[in-house]
Amino acid sequence: MRIVLLGPQGAGKGTQAQRISEKSGARHISTGDLVRAEIKSDSELGRQIKDYNDRGELVPDEIIIEMMRPYLDDADSWILDGFPRNESQAEALDEMLEEIDAELDAAVALEAPDEALIQRLSGRRTSEATGRIYHLEHDPPPESGEEDPGPFVQRKDDTEEALRRRLEVYHEHTEPLKHYYADRGILVTVDATQNIPEVTEEILDAVEEKA
Ligand code: AP5
Repeated sequence: MRIVLLGPQGAGKGTQAQRISEKSGARHISTGDLVRAEIKSDSELGRQIKDYNDRGELVPDEIIIEMMRPYLDDADSWILDGFPRNESQAEALDEMLEEIDAELDAAVALEAPDEALIQRLSGRRTSEATGRIYHLEHDPPPESGEEDPGPFVQRKDDTEEALRRRLEVYHEHTEPLKHYYADRGILVTVDATQNIPEVTEEILDAVEEKA
């Protein structure tokens, strides 16, 4: 399985990538997680990209492409969550795929209206211990510490101001990629307002049809 997940902030890219990875064994590669890990490590690169992340802007293409390249080379079955995010990243992905003689099975666009997403993201919590994504109402963190000890925290870029900016950037730069992949006949659109397991099933069925 080699798929790209497209979708606005809060549509459920990370949630679905984790679930599909658990079901299929495909590797979940999240450029957002790579960015946050680099920032947390307080490396020179982390300090350089922190501001972009906190403001809800895209990290420069050349940095992101070099960050994710080794992960792509390393596994032959993967789900890309948050990459590509503009046409130049999509072209870079095409080149990387050519180098490793691989093809995309599908680009899955998760769709939901912005206002629903802003509301949804206020309930997001992420486990500091495992990185797993939860939602206070729709997918609550476990109470027993054995399954996931937490703590369950809110992301720094989930402020309303940064979120509105991330959604603007999505509509301007990332949404046009739907045409990019539709032109190649590999775009699948999924209604992301359904509940979490329904979205997973729809993605898996659609990807199976394309593969
Ligand atoms: P990134 O981490 O990728 O953030 P994002 O794109 O803003 O997406 P989110 O993680 O906010 O949303 P999601 O769709 O994954 O939703 P989730 O599954 O968590 O990127 C962060 C930053 O890194 C960027 O702003 C940028 O600075 C940088 N960056 C990353 N990639 C880059 C790139 N390629 N180029 C340049 N810069 C880059 O779900 C959200 C919540 O909703 C959760 O609480 C979940 O439990 C809940 N939920 C999910 N699905 C449902 C459902 N169906 N029903 C009810 N609740 C649901």
